[in-house]
Amino acid sequence: MNTLDAIKARHSTRAFSDKQISAEDLQTILYAGGQAAVGGGDFKSMKLIAVQDPEVLKAIDEASAKRRPGSHPLYGAPTLVVLASKQSILPNIEFTNAGCVLENVLLAATDLGIDSIYLWMTMYGINDEPALMERLGFPEGFTCIGTVALGYADREFKKPKADEMRIEVSCI
Ligand SMILES: Cc1cc2nc3c(=O)[nH]c(=O)nc-3n(C[C@H](O)[C@H](O)[C@H](O)COP(=O)(O)O)c2cc1C
Repeated sequence: MNTLDAIKARHSTRAFSDKQISAEDLQTILYAGGQAAVGGGDFKSMKLIAVQDPEVLKAIDEASAKRRPGSHPLYGAPTLVVLASKQSILPNIEFTNAGCVLENVLLAATDLGIDSIYLWMTMYGINDEPALMERLGFPEGFTCIGTVALGYADREFKKPKADEMRIEVSCI
């Protein structure tokens, strides 16, 4: 798949089957995340953590659901890529860096035929629970700044308005 095809094909999945992604694909996806553009080249300000332990995933799902009782913010995904960060050498650039890293993760997954979704709710869930941050191995001073769930959809999801230009554009 070329890059533009992956950009076109990527879409959010909100119900995953139990089927796990392969270890090889996971390494390729994490590598892609680590190749992202990062402000000031401050790669040391971030850490990517792949979570596949069912108990830890359940704990993240439950912690994240506290803000929306009855929900399953992880959508049953068998893998969650967690991006942790401390303050960068360029203050306030952290979430922009996260977007770059995690978009690479999403596009690499799409290229490999793996379904995905960028998740924000899980960030609250993790950061609300210091014990969870410790279990995830966050270095001192790091917090979660974004996550991506990976796996295989258990039903078909369509990209909303895939044939339209979704963001207003002007050229001057
Ligand atoms: C930074 C960010 C955070 C998001 N957080 C969530 C989330 O917590 N839960 C969710 O269901 N979707 C989340 N999404 C997915 C968006 O809702 C989705 O990308 C958007 O509706 C466009 O659909 P598409 O991804 O299928 O193109 C998030 C997307 C981004 C970029």
